[in-house]
Amino acid sequence: MQSTNLQSTNPTTTRRGTTLVIGANGKTGRRVAARLADAGWPVRPASRSAETRFDWVDESTWLPALTGVDAAYITYYPDLALPGADEAVGAFAELAVANGVHRLVLLSGRGEPGAQAAERRLQASGADWTIVRCAFFDQNFSELFADAVRHGVLAMPGGDTREPFLDAEDIADVAVAALTDDRHINQLYELTGPRLLTLADAAAELGAALGREVRYVPMSAERYASELVSHGLPREEAVAIAELVAEVLDGRNAYLTDGVQQALGRPPRDFRDYARAAAASGVWAPAETAA
Ligand SMILES: NC(=O)c1ccc[n+]([C@@H]2O[C@H](COP(=O)([O-])OP(=O)(O)OC[C@H]3O[C@@H](n4cnc5c(N)ncnc54)[C@H](OP(=O)(O)O)[C@@H]3O)[C@@H](O)[C@H]2O)c1
Repeated sequence: MQSTNLQSTNPTTTRRGTTLVIGANGKTGRRVAARLADAGWPVRPASRSAETRFDWVDESTWLPALTGVDAAYITYYPDLALPGADEAVGAFAELAVANGVHRLVLLSGRGEPGAQAAERRLQASGADWTIVRCAFFDQNFSELFADAVRHGVLAMPGGDTREPFLDAEDIADVAVAALTDDRHINQLYELTGPRLLTLADAAAELGAALGREVRYVPMSAERYASELVSHGLPREEAVAIAELVAEVLDGRNAYLTDGVQQALGRPPRDFRDYARAAAASGVWAPAETAA
């Protein structure tokens, strides 16, 4: 995968220190950590199970994770739009700045009032911040919904809303540029993919990449919440996630932006390329033949 060659853009930064990557084994965190390491930047991977323990619900893990780093990539779990995220991110950002960690890059979402509240807490923290406000990730289909795609039926809220699905590889490229180039300080990038697709369009593209049918079945948020519960999610989290999915896919985000172009000087990757690469990786191979 061709990632940003950090040298080509003549980045200017005074930083030379270690970057804390929160959610380091997540969809964006692992890509950010790998890119930084590949470019020779010291990285401190953090999460509940990573080398450095970090837990959003256990504040005693925050300062040890921050000690000795000079920047942080912040992903909040389970979702930045959920109640309490703004308080947690705000408290973390203030603790970071109070301990000399000024460069903070936040992963955010589009059309989510809760996420925007967290963004404002970061902006008010005194940090040299960058906000990466993202559309729905392509990689949801090969991670969160991998089973559904494998079985050929994508049942979820969304209806015929068009969404500019975004490749996590582009998100990681923007986040790494922001962490290593001061020109991105105090910038908010709203990132989308290059095309608007309905979920039925996305299912058709996945099916075309796989050479077998994948179809989209519209589902109410209530029904979807029950499905999530049947897959082991606690009811409260399931209801919150189902309502969030229905909210972000209610049409408020059905427009393109040039955020990737602004930050990186190139267009975003296309969903079709993601689908082909993911299909070739075998991630949706039928369970018995899956690696
Ligand atoms: N998916 C989308 O379409 C989308 C769109 C826009 C914005 N977002 C935002 O993306 C963020 C999620 O980022 P992602 O997709 O890169 O991650 P992800 O794939 O959801 O992975 C979650 C990461 O968080 C860690 N984690 C889970 N519980 C934690 C806790 N209590 N404390 C600390 N870390 C914890 C996990 O590792 P451990 O299990 O080891 O802790 C894992 O590394 C959310 O804030 C969401 O709002 C997502």
